[in-house]
Amino acid sequence: MARILGIGIAVLDIVNQVDGYPEEDSEIRALAQDIRRGGNAANTLTVLAQLGHRCHWAGTLADDLASQVIEEALAAARVATDCVRPVKGGHTPTSCITLNRRNGSRTIVHHRDLPEYAAADFLRLDLTPFDWLHFEGRNVAELTQMLRHARHTCPDTPRSLELEKPREGLAPLVVEADLLLYSRPYALAQGAIAALAERDEAAAAEAFLLGQLSMAPEALHVVSWGEQGAYAMGPDHRLQHSPAFPPQQVVDTLGAGDTFNAGMIHATLAGLPLADGLRLACRLAGDKVGRPGLLGLDPAAAQA
Ligand code: FRU
Repeated sequence: MARILGIGIAVLDIVNQVDGYPEEDSEIRALAQDIRRGGNAANTLTVLAQLGHRCHWAGTLADDLASQVIEEALAAARVATDCVRPVKGGHTPTSCITLNRRNGSRTIVHHRDLPEYAAADFLRLDLTPFDWLHFEGRNVAELTQMLRHARHTCPDTPRSLELEKPREGLAPLVVEADLLLYSRPYALAQGAIAALAERDEAAAAEAFLLGQLSMAPEALHVVSWGEQGAYAMGPDHRLQHSPAFPPQQVVDTLGAGDTFNAGMIHATLAGLPLADGLRLACRLAGDKVGRPGLLGLDPAAAQA
């Protein structure tokens, strides 16, 4: 069991489940609607808490009605909010999500108008109790300062960084972390990789990872690759691959990537070899997409 701090945003997710994705400018009935607490780092912490870790979320929290939902959901998931910065008069970021029950796809329309957690907030935290720090790759100028501060003040505490969306100034930050968690769209945003992927997905993943490793040779680099599972590479330059573990029926892919990231952090903390960690993370993500939401995951999916 480790004590983990995750830095990122929390979101109110309004999820409409539909029987097939609607036409533009049509009107349809949702089969069901639920309201969840979302946000990548907060999602990852929710999964890590289920795996037995003591998790703390650092982010900003508005003071509107939606923020109460977020606080209650974090408490229910046993994610501590002592590192939060409250924002008076702020509006909670919201995602309106169309979840297609036929294939589990999730289409997200996100709106945010809330100041993000700043380096000044992070610098005030006592980082010594934490065994792991996980950062969302966003808010790049502030994130840069946070990562550097963490490296200087607690050089032995491992840091993971999620690079999901390509953002200006994000790429060079790979040198600041020990575990880099990329998405396929992030990799494909590099034109040459996208072109290669049209012919050979595995070769594209390998070329991407080799490029990342040349920037941060000591780190572990992991890229999730959707239905094809995930690829990884560490200092030995050997390409690792795990297939996906799809459930009988894919019902909800919302937060699958965040769950995969939790699996990788969990496996790395446990000292598993990269190939085993990759399989564990893919199994956990496979378990997640077979059930609605992020709670009630099968702990057996996170066994080595
Ligand atoms: C899923 C998610 C949602 C949220 C959106 C924010 O990964 O974190 O919970 O609405 O992405 O981009």
